[in-house]
Amino acid sequence: MADQPEIRILDTPAELFQAAAEEFAEIATAAVQAQGRFTVALSGGSTPRGMFNLLAGEKFASLPWSKFYFFWGDERHVPPDNPDSNYRMAYEALLSKVPVPKENVLRVPTENKDADSAARVYEETLKNFFKLRPGEVPRFDLILLGMGPDGHTASLFPDSVALQEDERLVVANWVEKFKTFRITFTYPVINNAVCVMFLVSGEDKAPALHEVLENQESGLPAQRVRPSNGRLIWLVDRAAASQLSSLKRS
Ligand code: 6PG
Repeated sequence: MADQPEIRILDTPAELFQAAAEEFAEIATAAVQAQGRFTVALSGGSTPRGMFNLLAGEKFASLPWSKFYFFWGDERHVPPDNPDSNYRMAYEALLSKVPVPKENVLRVPTENKDADSAARVYEETLKNFFKLRPGEVPRFDLILLGMGPDGHTASLFPDSVALQEDERLVVANWVEKFKTFRITFTYPVINNAVCVMFLVSGEDKAPALHEVLENQESGLPAQRVRPSNGRLIWLVDRAAASQLSSLKRS
């Protein structure tokens, strides 16, 4: 049974990134203590950069970085050195600055010109890493997510085919509005995480956040993220929360 979402409203983006970095560190440390490793799937877009910059700083230098394993919940179908690459942003902001062994960074092979093939290769990467039996779903310690103004999350966009995928772990999803494929985790993987943490910042996200958190009929992609046996944390700033009911904003 899914627990109630934990919704935390932070006054500013800076406070949001600080809260996110502290939550990341706490979850990671607990995972390493409990099982000797921490598996995390990073989100893309611009919002996580603020958190990554903090995690790369002195305050978090003593984390057991060598026991962390990094994946991506979604990726643009561009080479890893492309300015739009989620991997490139995370590498520049964080992974190039902390002592994570390069073999612990398992990015989506988007240099593969065929998006479906890249997705299938990444799916095999998950199956091998987590030693999955047929039909088994990986259970990440943490999956970070963002949300677009249209209520998409990862690369699960409204009206896209991947919304209906309940077997595959990773798929290439055609995104009509961008006229491109994106590689994305599916809901079975996301909803099997120990913890899913959304980071949502900015006024432009306020209408979608209201719909997702306060209109159960919205059907927006982000609303279907409900870990079946895990924590769901929403870290949002006051601008993004500006259309939430006063109760939530108290
Ligand atoms: C991506 C993301 C996507 C992102 C949202 C929010 O590849 O773009 O994974 O789901 O999290 O679009 O993006 P911003 O943080 O840039 O607003």
